[in-house]
Amino acid sequence: MRQKIVAGNWKMNLNKEEAEILASEVVNMAKDETPSDVKVIMCTPFIHLSKVKSLIGDAANVFVGAQNCYTEPKGAYTGEISAQQLASYGIDYVILGHSERREYFGESNEMLATKTDAVIANGMLPIFCFGEVLEEREAGTQKAVVEKQLSEGIFHLSAEDFGKVVLAYEPVWAIGTGKTATSAQAQEMHKDIRDMIAAKYGQEVADATPILYGGSAKPSNAQELFAQPDVDGGLIGGASLASRDFIDISKSY
Ligand code: G3P
Repeated sequence: MRQKIVAGNWKMNLNKEEAEILASEVVNMAKDETPSDVKVIMCTPFIHLSKVKSLIGDAANVFVGAQNCYTEPKGAYTGEISAQQLASYGIDYVILGHSERREYFGESNEMLATKTDAVIANGMLPIFCFGEVLEEREAGTQKAVVEKQLSEGIFHLSAEDFGKVVLAYEPVWAIGTGKTATSAQAQEMHKDIRDMIAAKYGQEVADATPILYGGSAKPSNAQELFAQPDVDGGLIGGASLASRDFIDISKSY
């Protein structure tokens, strides 16, 4: 049985007080409402990680994640944060390769392969993001685009290390647009992705890999999305900033 995961990507939002309120609400509601076999992850800005980690306390199915890390372990890289530093705070997950980082900060598949190695080497779990832009979807090249992102970003990993990866397919044209991929579109791509994994690592590894969907997932569409056989959960942006919506999504299985 694959792990069910609902991860919230807070992006660059919330001040100190707002973050503490949201994290406390999510932890308390997850304890009371989220099914015990669903993992809830809060991926916060770096500045909130330590406090959110402390607020999680003994909540068995709630975890904290960063939204990025640098490629190098330490050194003269002003403003950057390393996987080693994140691990020293007990951070569980790290989002890598989000389309906003690929677009705004020029992150390449090669750079993301190095970041993935650093996250795993420091005992954390990567949430590896990928997905096509609208022009690629309209041209019908989305499968080739995704295959390139995966093969150059994470298919260098051993089968053992690949087993630590959470995948997040995020059609860029659905991110923050309110335009969600249909459940059929999501299932088609997730099945293709699982077939790519099977071709590389074998069916057992493919069947064990959680593949999340991201892109305007909401309480109103999560149930249909999560009902798809190859959709194992969601990477949630806007809806993760409201505890009620985020927890409702975590109950949508
Ligand atoms: O990483 C998740 C994010 O890109 C999706 O954003 O606001 O469309 O749920 P949103």
